[in-house]
Amino acid sequence: MKIKAALAREKGKVTIEELELGAPRAGEVLVKMVASGICHTDFTTLNLEVPTTLPMVLGHEGVGVVEQVGEGVHSLAVGDHVIMTFPSCGHCESCLRGHPYACDDSTALFFSGFYADGEKRITDAEGTKVGSLFGQGSFADHCIIAERNAVKVDPEVELKSLCSLACGAQTGAGAVLNKMAPKPGDSLVVFGCGAVGISAIMAGKLAGCSTVIGVDIVPSRLELALECGATNVINGKEVADISEEVKRLTGGKGASFALEASGVPALVKQMLQSVKKEGLAVLVSFVSGPVEIDTTMLFVGPCISFAGTVEGASNPPIFIPQLVQFFKEGKFPVDKLATYYPFEDIHKAMEDARSGKAIKPILLF
Ligand SMILES: NC(=O)c1ccc[n+]([C@@H]2O[C@H](COP(=O)([O-])OP(=O)(O)OC[C@H]3O[C@@H](n4cnc5c(N)ncnc54)[C@H](O)[C@@H]3O)[C@@H](O)[C@H]2O)c1
Ligand SMILES: [Zn+2]
Ligand SMILES: [Zn+2]
Repeated sequence: MKIKAALAREKGKVTIEELELGAPRAGEVLVKMVASGICHTDFTTLNLEVPTTLPMVLGHEGVGVVEQVGEGVHSLAVGDHVIMTFPSCGHCESCLRGHPYACDDSTALFFSGFYADGEKRITDAEGTKVGSLFGQGSFADHCIIAERNAVKVDPEVELKSLCSLACGAQTGAGAVLNKMAPKPGDSLVVFGCGAVGISAIMAGKLAGCSTVIGVDIVPSRLELALECGATNVINGKEVADISEEVKRLTGGKGASFALEASGVPALVKQMLQSVKKEGLAVLVSFVSGPVEIDTTMLFVGPCISFAGTVEGASNPPIFIPQLVQFFKEGKFPVDKLATYYPFEDIHKAMEDARSGKAIKPILLF
């Protein structure tokens, strides 16, 4: 079928083109898109900072309605509302353990543009094969996705509000709820109040953390952090030593948990210095350069743990419906992060994401 998609043919640039999308194969569904979020990782891919090849249809935070099902699809039917999430193979040890975020094939399935069978589903007018980011390519009015990577959601919830649950919000909330698992009364500091960071702040509040600190350099983002559950915020431009300020706000000891979601190399060290003894620091951002740290002083002495996670260490068929339920109960207001654009205005949406004007730009089809 003919689709309209935002295609990346060269580094840094997308253009809307008409392309040909194949039919869903066994274990796949065709989804008519309702909306797609734009995530920082779309830019990371567009700038070729990950192992990828163009041409590729970007986008990996799609929501829509199932229009056709391939052979052997049992859990989804035509008309189902779905959130499309990150791909995984389904049969490696991590997948079998229910840890698809650590799938053996995740790098290739996320960034190569190929589906799990080693083929692509889209061709351009000249017959050139076109990749689909995250086995999805949601910057298009239709896309094909593996059944196991599409999560069915309650049709009563407005789909366009849920895009970021596919990646950004799942990453931030999951880093807190799945990886850190704080107890009521614990403290959390979040570096970078973008879509990932603010979702982590919402999750910190949900989990009952008594102190939740947001760090950023953009005043409007700090204001939103406070609105979404932060008890304190720190403007990195106004404070000489962020970790000292975190210690001051946490009774002199440091936070129980810290999350790095800014991608700024210097903040990785600040994060490590902000956690209290035996605390846990979690890195989710793609840090933009090397980081120099004194491992003995930072890890051995204070007995702290340092972890990385992909997609919030989440098992999407279980975690995404939980987040949808929290959203319905008003406890996880991800719609507060959204700015909506018609799909045709994708260039403006991407520009607003780059400039920081929009936290979670969402394209509407
Ligand atoms: N691990 C994963 O699975 C995963 C998934 C999604 C996104 N990511 C990564 O997570 C990171 C965050 O994603 P996002 O979509 O929230 O990005 P974003 O660009 O919206 O957020 C980054 C935030 O950091 C702030 N910031 C920049 N410089 C700063 C500084 N010097 N001090 C304090 N704050 C500063 C920005 O103002 C912004 O609010 C990105 O690196 C993204 O690629 C990782
Ligand atoms: Zn796997
Ligand atoms: Zn993403």
